[in-house]
Amino acid sequence: MTDTVPDQKHTDEVAAWWRQAVVYQIYPRSFADANGDGIGDLPGILSRVDYLAELGIDAVWLSPFYPSALADGGYDVDDYRDVDPRLGTLDDFDAMVEALHARSIRVIVDIVPNHTSNRHEWFQEALAAGRGSEARDRYIFREGTGPDGSQPPTDWVSVFGGPAWERVDDGQWYFHNFAVEQPDLNWDNEEVRADFLKTLRFWSDRGVDGFRIDVAHMLTKDLSDPLPSRAELALLPQDGSHPLIDRDDVHEIYAEWRQVFDSYDPPRTAVAEAWVSTPERRAKYASAEGLGQAFNFDLLVADFDAVEFRRIIADNLAQATLSGSSTTWVLSNHDVTRHATRYGLQPLNGRHVKQGTEWVAAGGPEEQLDREGGLRRARATTLLLLGLPGSTYVYQGEELGLHEVADITPAQRQDPAFFRGAEFDGLGRDGCRVPLPWTADGSSFGFGSGGAHLPQPAWFAQHAVDVLAGDPSSTLSLYRDALRLRHRLQTGESLEWLKTDRVDVLRFARPNGWQVVANFGAESFDLGADAEHVVLASTPVSGAALPGECTVWLAPDD
Ligand code: NOJ
Ligand code: CA
Repeated sequence: MTDTVPDQKHTDEVAAWWRQAVVYQIYPRSFADANGDGIGDLPGILSRVDYLAELGIDAVWLSPFYPSALADGGYDVDDYRDVDPRLGTLDDFDAMVEALHARSIRVIVDIVPNHTSNRHEWFQEALAAGRGSEARDRYIFREGTGPDGSQPPTDWVSVFGGPAWERVDDGQWYFHNFAVEQPDLNWDNEEVRADFLKTLRFWSDRGVDGFRIDVAHMLTKDLSDPLPSRAELALLPQDGSHPLIDRDDVHEIYAEWRQVFDSYDPPRTAVAEAWVSTPERRAKYASAEGLGQAFNFDLLVADFDAVEFRRIIADNLAQATLSGSSTTWVLSNHDVTRHATRYGLQPLNGRHVKQGTEWVAAGGPEEQLDREGGLRRARATTLLLLGLPGSTYVYQGEELGLHEVADITPAQRQDPAFFRGAEFDGLGRDGCRVPLPWTADGSSFGFGSGGAHLPQPAWFAQHAVDVLAGDPSSTLSLYRDALRLRHRLQTGESLEWLKTDRVDVLRFARPNGWQVVANFGAESFDLGADAEHVVLASTPVSGAALPGECTVWLAPDD
């Protein structure tokens, strides 16, 4: 046997798999239900790996599947190193990873380090141990204000609405940035830090390829007295010194995590969910010494508008160069109204981007929504995004052209943001978390044999996988075709803007000569002789006229 010298180029390429990957986000409870209890599970994912392989994705990201009371859809974790028994077992997890890896699909799991659930053994210990104990030091406990301490330490409000402090039986208060069931951890505590390193190793040892870090910008806090009021807090700059948000010292944590990631071959990857104030601040999370990549959410709040898209694309590519990372493109996820729906609503206050209550205020979603137009625009933006340098995140169901489900009664809703009336989304986030339709007929559209934990509307039948799979003009076929061709298009991480003489038409070329032309306007755009090079179109193109609200890919002659 001859000794083989490791091929360094190959090794580097393997390590950099994430830079231009297409990552498919699975919301496990709503993907596929194998045992018919109405809740999606890991064996359900296992049963659909061929679907994922055929789609052509590079990786899946699984939203939390850990034991949880579901006070916040699983982002309230009881135990970071186990599987919720309703979703399966660790053996099921291993079998799922093996099957995905066998199809060259990598696996990213969600880490929720800002808070545990209130059922986590640490929090239960903290409640039992009482004030001043080591157990309470893992969280943020304080005395209240007022003569008898019956007022919260501050008037701060949580992200989901309502006070950010909750009083416990012995009179102390604990801090929760999110739901009351999600007490914030104290990241000054060494045991907390050590335990998360253990969790990262636990999943890395099980073959997990990367991590998505929940609210990565909120872990560290400066809660030294005097604490600012809510109004004062809002005025403080978010420049690294803010008491709660995007503090510079959070990067010490990620530098430590990086050591763990890099101790594996290939190194484990991470992507930060970090809502921060400037591109420069986001770049810190994406640095190679830190998490390595950070979500770019700019398109979640952008209108269907060429000028806005061009600015966002240019800014984010520049920012990626700054951090040495690659950028991420996201149009939908489990926290926002699906993009087909956003683009199908009439502009209100001059914008297409709407959140829940505004639909209702504007006369009801069904009356408001231009289903066809919304989907046409969604297909056009998706094809544009998939032609860009960087990695793209696809949220389950967008490949089926799904719209947001608005028809969910208050009694059926699950999202704490809905019940606590958080300002950021009046209807809450359940409408994008409805279980997927796999078949046009049958129980819960093929999701499982025992119904679905959120109600599926009748129109889901038209979006079922078995209906779309055989139709070359379907949204599912568009995604499959794009992902197949993308491997040829993605050769370098740059683009060159080309002139179009139209503000509503974007055109760029990739280093290998592939081009993307996106017409955001209503008028058609003349492709001239280049029409011959069209290899993919978001809606049918005939002759040289690129229709309005349509994107095409052009391939050079071989
Ligand atoms: C961001 C997650 O995406 C969201 O679903 C969750 O509610 C919050 N973080 C709190 O964990
Ligand atoms: Ca199930």
